[in-house]
Amino acid sequence: MNENFKLYSQYYDLLYQDKNYILETNYVIGLIETYRPKSKTILELGAGTGKHAFLLANKGYTVLGIERSEDMIAIANQKKNANVSFEIADITKFNLNQTFDVATSLFHVISYLTDNESLLQTFKNVHQHLNKDGLFIFDVWHSPAVYHQIPEKRTKVLQNGTIEVIRKADPVIYSEKNVVEVNYDIAITNLTNKSTNTIVEKHPMRHFSKPEIELLAYATGFNLLGTEEFLTGSIPSTNTWGVCYILQKI
Ligand SMILES: C[S@@+](CC[C@H](N)C(=O)[O-])C[C@H]1O[C@@H](n2cnc3c(N)ncnc32)[C@H](O)[C@@H]1O
Repeated sequence: MNENFKLYSQYYDLLYQDKNYILETNYVIGLIETYRPKSKTILELGAGTGKHAFLLANKGYTVLGIERSEDMIAIANQKKNANVSFEIADITKFNLNQTFDVATSLFHVISYLTDNESLLQTFKNVHQHLNKDGLFIFDVWHSPAVYHQIPEKRTKVLQNGTIEVIRKADPVIYSEKNVVEVNYDIAITNLTNKSTNTIVEKHPMRHFSKPEIELLAYATGFNLLGTEEFLTGSIPSTNTWGVCYILQKI
């Protein structure tokens, strides 16, 4: 494993150290048990480093994760479980020749699809890869909250004894596209030799309103079963950044 990659994986783990993957996975399992209790197989879109995938497998599901980032998949493949596998693929154009009971896409992956064409293609792909009555569960940024709270410049400083990370986020709002482009400037310092590496990342994120998702679902062969605040299950409001949608294949 090269030094840059080690740095990247440490940075990723540090950045999301407070994210409660166990709670999130149990929340998703609760939705599956409510809406399609006999489900056994899960396709995870944008699986990242595979944390949800392994937790879902520990609860008895068989999971295939697809992800476009080789770095993320390399981290995911460091762990082993016979019921989890990963493939490098783009969620807007994949063909796996198999179907699943449930598709999940967690932590705003669908918000990374900023144009209508990619969204339609992805939803149609998911539809093709689902069994009868299959579920599509995903969380996205919520337009009413974005316009109410207005994203601002932020700096996050993190340390783990080995590295220090300073991440500056500078958002640019494109209101005519429902997109916020978040520009990250990340400085990672090795605390032993004091050398610093910098990473510049651009994350264009689309936000959605409920009628938009309803229309997208209708256009691609899904019924909208549920719309709720991710994790709490509350009714989405102008203070709800992440909204979870539960769709079912018609
Ligand atoms: C915020 S991360 C979430 C990762 C993981 N789901 C989690 O909860 O930790 C978003 C992920 O979506 C992936 N992604 C974004 N667009 C994608 C696409 N078109 N195809 C495949 N993966 C994509 C990124 O590479 C990244 O790993």
